[in-house]
Amino acid sequence: MRAPCEELPVVFDGVSVTAGPVTILDNISLSLAAGAPTVLIGPNGSGKSTLLRIAMGLMPPSRGRVTWGGRENAPPLKRAIVFQRPAMLRRSAAANIRFALRAAGIPRAGHAARTSELLELVGLGGLADRAARRLSGGEQQRLALARALARDPAVLFLDEPTASLDPTATKAVEDIIRAVSARNIKVVMATHDLGEARRFAGDIVMLHRGRVVEAGPAASFLDTPKTAEARAFLAGELLI
Ligand SMILES: Nc1ncnc2c1ncn2[C@@H]1O[C@H](COP(=O)(O)OP(=O)(O)OP(=O)(O)O)[C@@H](O)[C@H]1O
Ligand SMILES: [Mg+2]
Repeated sequence: MRAPCEELPVVFDGVSVTAGPVTILDNISLSLAAGAPTVLIGPNGSGKSTLLRIAMGLMPPSRGRVTWGGRENAPPLKRAIVFQRPAMLRRSAAANIRFALRAAGIPRAGHAARTSELLELVGLGGLADRAARRLSGGEQQRLALARALARDPAVLFLDEPTASLDPTATKAVEDIIRAVSARNIKVVMATHDLGEARRFAGDIVMLHRGRVVEAGPAASFLDTPKTAEARAFLAGELLI
């Protein structure tokens, strides 16, 4: 089991993000604590990807602040993110992982063993030498997960990791996420898929137009949503 880590909780305190006249995130306060996955839901353009980028420390808020384990400007040593459309290096699957290990500053002596271990973990042991860009969508998503895990993160941000995958590929990716979460890595995942939210969430944060409209334990959110927006979203109505 992993020791409590210095990255958590990730706390948003009055965070807003603006781009010119556009408000992308509007006064968000929330805490991402150790434990079961936090799932971000909300319609297209509601701010899920932007929230994940801020939580990863990739961009500063325009207003408010973010702290990791109580610290501002904490170096992102134990954080990793898989983007909505992960870009594969024009190299083999194994070389993509070795690149991530180098980027994480892991001593070269351990790279070969760790690369094999990560490829096995995501079920790509037989495809180590395949050009990463020739892998299927689901295989690329699994390779992206392996690359993110290369830095042995304590918190893993996932941006719609199963969007556009079929049920078999989705299950393969979800099995990996489940294994990651079982290793006490905090998973924070954006998804459009309410079924996926139901399968994973310890708690749910729903965004709409850059605001948190409702947040709380998954069971109460899904069974007894309190806001009209959450009720409409859960009923499959189009939120605009
Ligand atoms: N750099 C930027 N400049 C202006 N607007 C931006 C910028 N980045 C994002 N936006 C806008 O902010 C809003 C939120 O975008 P974001 O990608 O965070 O939403 P999302 O919930 O992840 O959407 P999706 O479900 O489609 O992935 C969108 O309307 C987007 O067009
Ligand atoms: Mg997005």
